[in-house]
Amino acid sequence: MGDSVMPGIGRREVLGAAGAAVCGVALTACSSEGDKAPSAASIKGQEIAKVSEVPVGGGKVNQKWRIVVTQPTAGVYKAFSARCTHKGCAVSRPEAGVMTCPCHGSEFAADSGKCLKGPASAPLAAYQVKVEGDGIILV
Ligand code: FES
Repeated sequence: MGDSVMPGIGRREVLGAAGAAVCGVALTACSSEGDKAPSAASIKGQEIAKVSEVPVGGGKVNQKWRIVVTQPTAGVYKAFSARCTHKGCAVSRPEAGVMTCPCHGSEFAADSGKCLKGPASAPLAAYQVKVEGDGIILV
């Protein structure tokens, strides 16, 4: 039988196809969830990063809250929803002042959340933060 060659690979192909389908569903869910990023009120007072985790010019993605914390210039901290405004994938921590979405390549400014490159067109939602001790707190 010609179709029984290397059944292990066939199984992986099936799993891969199932994984792609699940991913598609997840992206759809993320897309609809994109508007449901935690409201500032619901997470107010939460520490989203330690100051030491957010270098000048860089940042950190808080996976629990899906928030990116950045420090565009010394002592200035910014926070944005990590949900890409295209279809809801999580953007990366900033490099050279830019946060990139791994799904389709959208880019966002680390100092403002502004969309620099599509397919996304809207900026990342911004949160207000303050430094308290060694922590960065949502206000
Ligand atoms: S989900 Fe981010 S670019 Fe498509």
